[in-house]
Amino acid sequence: MEPKPFPTLETERLTLHQMTQTDAEGLFDLYAKPEVVRFIDQEPMLRLDQAKMLITMFENLFKSGRGLRWGVFTLEDDQLIGTCGYKEWDTRRFRAEISYDLAPDSWGSGYMREALVAILDYGFHQMKLRRVEGLVDPEDTRSHNLLSGLGFRMEGVLREHDFVKGKFQDDMVFSLLHQDWEEDDKKLKD
Ligand SMILES: CC(C)(COP(=O)(O)OP(=O)(O)OC[C@H]1O[C@@H](n2cnc3c(N)ncnc32)[C@H](O)[C@@H]1OP(=O)(O)O)[C@@H](O)C(=O)NCCC(=O)NCCS
Repeated sequence: MEPKPFPTLETERLTLHQMTQTDAEGLFDLYAKPEVVRFIDQEPMLRLDQAKMLITMFENLFKSGRGLRWGVFTLEDDQLIGTCGYKEWDTRRFRAEISYDLAPDSWGSGYMREALVAILDYGFHQMKLRRVEGLVDPEDTRSHNLLSGLGFRMEGVLREHDFVKGKFQDDMVFSLLHQDWEEDDKKLKD
């Protein structure tokens, strides 16, 4: 059987598609920014080959069926402004973890909300997910606002669940169920 092609999604202002090695410079610009890697266990990138390796990792994530990572590009000028996707995809339990990042000069414009609406629709309808989880640093208020605004509920705190840049960190667990999404669907699309 032919493997499924990587899905391309389009929104009002964005196109979401698979990244290839030609996107390495754009991805490097994104991950070289300290604000973008603040809450993950990664230092800002220093070399282009780190971005090339990350693209290979994203390709392998898709090939192995453990997740998908889209590049988020502006429709207007095809510029890579962020990434988003699913990891820890568990097909037997119909769940996956969402993650995302956006270039700081694109914050405050609703781009990530727009991208996540598209990938959540894809996740619930095409990937048949029942539950989408988000693990968020307690200080990451932009993520709290983003996920809450999409209908995610905060379920609790996993104490010292993460180890980021030499320090243990709590993680707040957010979740969105397919049924929540369908109930909120009308509200979100209005
Ligand atoms: C998390 C992150 C993507 C949120 O970015 P963001 O710009 O706040 O989120 P959105 O793109 O959804 O934009 C929402 C903002 O745009 C505003 N906005 C403007 N136009 C809008 C529109 N048309 N629609 C919706 N919101 C709009 C909203 O009011 C909100 O602004 P506010 O925060 O000042 O209230 C970003 O902070 C980031 O990349 N952080 C670093 C990476 C990270 O920490 N990732 C999480 C670990 S997985």
